[in-house]
Amino acid sequence: MEHTQLKQDESQYVMQTYGRFDLSLDHGDGCYLYDLDGNKYLDLTSGIGVNCLGHAHPVLTKALQDQVASLIHVSNLYYTAPMIETAKHLCQSTGMKRAFFANSGAEANEAMIKTARKYSQMKYGMDRTKILTLHNSFHGRTIATLEATGQEKFHQYFFPFTTGFDYFKINDLDSVKEKVDETTCGIMVELIQGESGVRPLDQNFVKDLEIYCKENDLLLLVDEVQTGIGRTGKLFCYQNYGIEPDIVSMAKGLGGGIPIGGILTNEKTSEVLKAGDHGTTFGGNPLATTSAKTVLSIVDTPEFLNEVQEKGQYFQDQLRTIESNQIKDIRGIGLMIGIEVDEKNIGKLIEKCMDRHLLVLKAGTNTIRLLPPLVITKKQIDDAVNILREVFES
Ligand SMILES: Cc1ncc(COP(=O)(O)O)c(C=O)c1O
Repeated sequence: MEHTQLKQDESQYVMQTYGRFDLSLDHGDGCYLYDLDGNKYLDLTSGIGVNCLGHAHPVLTKALQDQVASLIHVSNLYYTAPMIETAKHLCQSTGMKRAFFANSGAEANEAMIKTARKYSQMKYGMDRTKILTLHNSFHGRTIATLEATGQEKFHQYFFPFTTGFDYFKINDLDSVKEKVDETTCGIMVELIQGESGVRPLDQNFVKDLEIYCKENDLLLLVDEVQTGIGRTGKLFCYQNYGIEPDIVSMAKGLGGGIPIGGILTNEKTSEVLKAGDHGTTFGGNPLATTSAKTVLSIVDTPEFLNEVQEKGQYFQDQLRTIESNQIKDIRGIGLMIGIEVDEKNIGKLIEKCMDRHLLVLKAGTNTIRLLPPLVITKKQIDDAVNILREVFES
C-alpha cells in the first residue's frame, strides 16, 4: 500500500491518539529503517528505547522463530523454561531476589506500586499508602500511573484518578522530607527523567535519598522502564549510582521489540505479593520471555555494556564539537542522550533531521532525545553527528 493511502486509512480508522511523523516504515536492518519506497533512515529512536539490538537482529530473530514454532503462549498456571530462565538471569546478575513479568512499563509500575503498598500496609497499617514521585516524572498512562506522573498536563479528563501520590522537587532532599508523613510508603524515581527531557538525577541526591529511605523504612522504587537493560552502560541505571533499590521496574529494552515488562524485588519485597494478589494473562509468556532471555544473553556481558558506555561518551564528545548557539546543553548517560535547544526551534530541527534521513525523538518541550539501538557503531555515530552538524549549522 502507498504511504498516502495508509495515511488516509489511518485518519479514518485509527483513533487519533498519536501525532505521527509523515513516514510509513516497512522494515528494518540493524540501525536502519526503510520506508515503503526503500529509502533508508538511520534510527536514533529504537522505537522509543525498545529495539536495543536494532532491527531484525539475527540471533533474536532465530530465537523468536524457533519459539513461535514451538510454544507462543501458555498461561501462568504452568511452568515454562524461558520465563524462569529470564527471572534467574535478572536475579543472578543484579542480586535482586525475585521477578514478576507483565507486558508494558505502565503495568510494571502498577506491580511496583501494589507491592510497595502491600508491604507497608501489612507492616504499618492500612493508612500507609502514599508514594512520592518527582515533579516532571513520567510513569505511564494507566489511571494510577498517570497520577504517579508528576506533570499537571497528565492529570486531566480521566477523573477520578487513583489517590495516594504526591510530588517532590528534583535533587532536593528537603523537598522529600517536607512531603513525607506517616502515610508515606515509598519514593519512586526515574534516575534519568526520560520523557520530560533526559535529566539525570544528581549522584549525591540519589545516595542521600537511599539512606533516608532506609532510615525510615520507605521503599525506594526505581522506574527503569526507559533506563534499564543496558541503555546507560550498566544493566540497570541504578548500578551507575551505587544504590540498592527495593523494587525496580523494567520494560522497553527488555524484549528488544516484543512487549514485556516486569519488576525485580529484593529481600524486603520479594515475598509481599502472594498467589492471587497480582497477575496478568500474557505476563511472562514463552514468546516474550524468549525475547528477554535472548536480549539479556547479548546485552548483559561486561564487553557489551562497556561498549555502550564508551559509545555514549564518544557520541556526547562528538556532539560537543558542533558549533551552534542553538545547542543549550548536552546531557545523558550511556546511549540515552538529550540535546537541549530552544523550544520554538525544536519542531523544525527534528523535521530537518528527518529530511536528511535521521530519525530522532523529542523529550519535554525543548530536548532532542537520542535513544539509538545499543548496537550502533562508531561509524554510524559519526554519520549521525555529521547530519546533526549540518542541521545545527545550516
Ligand atoms: C520511565 C517510564 N516509565 C513508564 C513508562 C510507560 O511505559 P509503557 O509505555 O510501556 O507503558 C515509560 C514510557 O515511556 C517511561 O519512560
